[in-house]
Amino acid sequence: MMNKDVIIACDFNSAEQLFNFLDKFDGVEKPYLKVGMELFYASGNQIIKEIKRRGHKIFLDLKLHDIPNTVKKSMAVLSALDVDMVNLHAGGGSVMMKGALEGLTRPDGTRPLLIAVTQLTSTNQELMTNELLIDKPLDEVVMSYALNTKNSGLDGVVCSPLEAGKVKEVCGKEFLTITPGIRLAGDSVGDQKRVTTPALARELGSDYIVVGRSITGAEDPVKAYRQCVKEFLG
Ligand code: C5P
Repeated sequence: MMNKDVIIACDFNSAEQLFNFLDKFDGVEKPYLKVGMELFYASGNQIIKEIKRRGHKIFLDLKLHDIPNTVKKSMAVLSALDVDMVNLHAGGGSVMMKGALEGLTRPDGTRPLLIAVTQLTSTNQELMTNELLIDKPLDEVVMSYALNTKNSGLDGVVCSPLEAGKVKEVCGKEFLTITPGIRLAGDSVGDQKRVTTPALARELGSDYIVVGRSITGAEDPVKAYRQCVKEFLG
């Protein structure tokens, strides 16, 4: 199993927009795709089945966070959709994370990769201290959640490429880092605060880069995707 790839964040709000985008690829390349809440809630399981039928791998980015039993049962439903990667919030705790792993495991022993979100990038120190009442430094909390994720048996975390090295120091080099916040040189940063090129993400040890607007918003998305692959996978 290749644990290094470029994942395109398909932040479209309709199936039509998504398939117009995918039709630009010539049928030989089958990029790994991230489907998030917006598209999933709009188009449900049907869109997942159609993307799989077309031969793409899918990271289903639904970030589950609920009581362990609910997460376990919901993960079993997602696993049956034959997706390749799913995620949850590490803040749900180790019992929830272990339940998720159990729910994901198919009768034949296979399962999608299971990745945790530590603290969202929209959470800053102020919000954590004043609203969540967590008074430790944000970076310490992120690393502690990553270690809890690793100790619960999960495969990796979502983080910035700039944190990938530290995560691997704390959790081991086999522990996967899935890294958004990627821009091709010269592209607009948009609402991202700290961005990294695919080439730098490779140097920093990311396992999967998640690229949205640098590909989906490019004049020639296929060319932009190929550039990301060339820089990141060599
Ligand atoms: O368009 P862009 O490349 O910024 O898209 C990045 C994708 O990664 C989006 O789907 C965004 O929601 C997701 N993401 C992120 N930062 C995180 C977690 C997820 O940008 N910390």
